[in-house]
Amino acid sequence: AAAEKGNYRHFMQKEIFEQPDSCGRTIGAYTNILRQTVELPGEGADAIDWSEIKHLYMIACGTAHYATRVAEYWFEQCAGLPVKTDIASEFRYREPALAKEGGLALFVSQSGETADTLAALRYCKEQGLKTAAVVNVPTSSIAREADLVLPTLAGPEIGVASTKAFTAQLAALAAVAISAGRAREQISRDAEIRLVRALTELPRLMSTTLQLDERIAELSRDMAKASDVIYLGRGVHYPIALEGALKLKEVSYIHAEGYASGELKHGPIALIDEETPVVFVAPFDGLFDKSLSNLQEVAARRGEVILISDAAGVRAAGETPASRIELPDCDPFIAPILYSLPIQLLAYHVAVEKGTDVDQPRNLAKSVTVE
Ligand code: G6P
Repeated sequence: AAAEKGNYRHFMQKEIFEQPDSCGRTIGAYTNILRQTVELPGEGADAIDWSEIKHLYMIACGTAHYATRVAEYWFEQCAGLPVKTDIASEFRYREPALAKEGGLALFVSQSGETADTLAALRYCKEQGLKTAAVVNVPTSSIAREADLVLPTLAGPEIGVASTKAFTAQLAALAAVAISAGRAREQISRDAEIRLVRALTELPRLMSTTLQLDERIAELSRDMAKASDVIYLGRGVHYPIALEGALKLKEVSYIHAEGYASGELKHGPIALIDEETPVVFVAPFDGLFDKSLSNLQEVAARRGEVILISDAAGVRAAGETPASRIELPDCDPFIAPILYSLPIQLLAYHVAVEKGTDVDQPRNLAKSVTVE
């Protein structure tokens, strides 16, 4: 197995650095570059008439759940589709009220074997709902049982903490949201061209972003001393904050929480002191001003702010954040995919700094096939 790691110390590190390729492959499978359109791969991709769908349910566990939380914004914005996301273990026991007419249940899973997600899929089928699954393992139970399979082409993921599978899930879901938006006539042909172009630019932007590795390793030395870390984000970056906190917990064992920036005043601000790093995931988009005022509130309470943004965001924040990570400019549509990389690198380097078993963190399993 050591050989398969190539020049990397850990599978997690190798998989983080594979993302320009794994995302590029996934995007390639969902887009027609010449025509600048989305074309869903796989047999029966036309089985879903998006113009007939009235409710989309997205069900998953762990990191895959956070992919659905990002996609929720995309399906609402691009396709005007009412969405409900759920954790599979909650969904399956709740006897949820489902829209059987026009309801589509979409499951997201790297392994395709997560017990709760599989049980939720079977439940939806019994209820007569149409089902689709975004899966990384094409031979898995979830792939076999769903009506429609939407593959991610991340390749085998060995590190227990999911990285390249997550960004591949996001890339696939973004493409599906564009396709749904076109079918539902919620986005114009011009908008489709812009969004497809943004997706195809992603691998190159990911490569540039990965050059921040050294800088992030530097920042991780201080963070490794913290006992709590807070991650904040707004809009599509709120689920990225949740995923950032999950990644850090999983591999470094440091307690971390993700919150929507706007919730700061409703509790988490009480936790702020000099000892608590606060990571802001905030590109310079339409919500940046709001994030900046949250950031200033944290800094005013002597919180140690780490801003992850772009050139304009870093400039606007000035000297207020203690540290800054500056990503290349990108289309806001794909920003949550790009901003996943620095939070993965941060978790990885903090874990290395702490000397944990990065690829096999204590108590965790790659695939939870029992309840
Ligand atoms: C486990 C893994 C996570 C993963 C989750 C869901 O908890 O450690 O990395 O996100 O299961 O797995 P799935 O294979 O369904 O995506």
